[in-house]
Amino acid sequence: MKARKNILCIGAGYVGGPTMAMIASKCPECRVTVVDIDPERIAAWNSNELPIYEPGLDDLVSKCRGRNLFFSSDIADGIRNNDIIFVSVNTPTKTFGLGRGMAADLQYWEKTARQILAFSESPKIVVEKSTLPVKTALAMERILNSTKNNIRFDVVSNPEFLAEGNAIHDLESPDRVLIGSREDENGLKARQIIADIYLHWVPKERIITSGIWSSELSKLVSNAFLAQRISSINAISALCEKTEADVVEVSRAVGMDHRIGAKFLNAGVGFGGSCFRKDILNLVYLCRSQGLEEVADYWEMVVKMNDYQKERFLQTMLGAMFNTLAGKHICLWGFAFKADTGDTRESPAIYIARRLAEEKAVVHISDPQALKNARKDLADIDDIRYIEDPYRAADGCEAIAVLTDWDIYRRLDFKKIFNRMEKPAFIFDGRNILDHKLCFQIGFNVYPIGKPPLTHF
Ligand SMILES: NC(=O)c1ccc[n+]([C@@H]2O[C@H](COP(=O)([O-])OP(=O)(O)OC[C@H]3O[C@@H](n4cnc5c(N)ncnc54)[C@H](O)[C@@H]3O)[C@@H](O)[C@H]2O)c1
Repeated sequence: MKARKNILCIGAGYVGGPTMAMIASKCPECRVTVVDIDPERIAAWNSNELPIYEPGLDDLVSKCRGRNLFFSSDIADGIRNNDIIFVSVNTPTKTFGLGRGMAADLQYWEKTARQILAFSESPKIVVEKSTLPVKTALAMERILNSTKNNIRFDVVSNPEFLAEGNAIHDLESPDRVLIGSREDENGLKARQIIADIYLHWVPKERIITSGIWSSELSKLVSNAFLAQRISSINAISALCEKTEADVVEVSRAVGMDHRIGAKFLNAGVGFGGSCFRKDILNLVYLCRSQGLEEVADYWEMVVKMNDYQKERFLQTMLGAMFNTLAGKHICLWGFAFKADTGDTRESPAIYIARRLAEEKAVVHISDPQALKNARKDLADIDDIRYIEDPYRAADGCEAIAVLTDWDIYRRLDFKKIFNRMEKPAFIFDGRNILDHKLCFQIGFNVYPIGKPPLTHF
């Protein structure tokens, strides 16, 4: 019989909710509680309409909720009654003061540390789940040990590598689970206690351990490498468009080299999501603060290339549509930053919609899951139409821009859509997911990414 563990997670977001649901499901003898300062979020976790959309999440939560998975707003009680505390609060980019626009904003993180200190009455293992600058654990340890209450706190780093839209699969079958700790007796003991949780379902060889600073840094570097691949292929897409090469053919040829690999080599309108941009900027800031200017410049280019790609896409639209978009109805298919999520944080669609509005186009937005967030993201812009049905959204428009790789867009009746649009009708495929030849034969002028356009003039 495995020992019962009382586990708390502070932060009921895209990471905290699904991660704890998986732990509760795989460790029935553990009691898992998730708390948040946002009572609405907690109420949603306790309802039939979860606060985030993630395939498979509803089933997972309904299986465990009320059995050994609980969502609560009582943070103090949660801290008092649990031995292991995962911290999964948001760590956005700072918008003020020193490091503004670059460094991680650690105010939520620090507030959590102080809450843990204030309400703890027994020893705790505090697990960093949030993505943090390297050496944050040191700050956590200093705060937790700042009073003489004789309570032992061990800080462990266990960064999360899940990808939204695929989170349940990633949590169930992770490439690796990384656990970093101090390499003294207590640190190693705490590391093992966390490893024991994952050992319920993750094969031993996929649970890797390291020093705590390596663990913190590995998460930032992982995201930087992923984003770098996207920016690399996007840079090549620009060259393809100038040289009549086809980026899909190039990426296939390059990706078949097993040293390079085929994943994350799809050119597109740019990466989004809450993590890539903020984590790279965080890495850049870290490098600059260590005097490593060249290293910082190198990684900063990944973000600059992404900004360039988004603007390039907009300029392709503008150029193709006779250098004026004023008064034209333009339909965006997809607003989420990727398929299978409703998350729009840092979605390229936000940038494109805003730039189109600046050009005085009338923007129609369609998305199966993200319209609620889109309305919030663009609340300051008048006259945007939000229409879930992709057919109705395109009605009367002069152009469609595909911004999210939702599968549904591949299977639509393009003839029907074409017939109901203004002519000449354009498609700008920012994800290269449509059948371009077919769309062209129907009558569309088609502008993919990194391939020659197919036009009727
Ligand atoms: N979203 C991802 O795909 C992903 C993947 C891996 C790692 N991460 C990292 O995980 C962390 C969390 O990301 P997320 O996407 O879940 O963020 P999120 O914004 O969805 O969730 C964070 C939650 O923490 C809550 N919170 C903030 N301060 C709090 C406090 N003092 N007490 C209690 N609750 C508090 C917020 O109300 C919010 O609900 C970030 O550091 C992120 O970089 C995210």
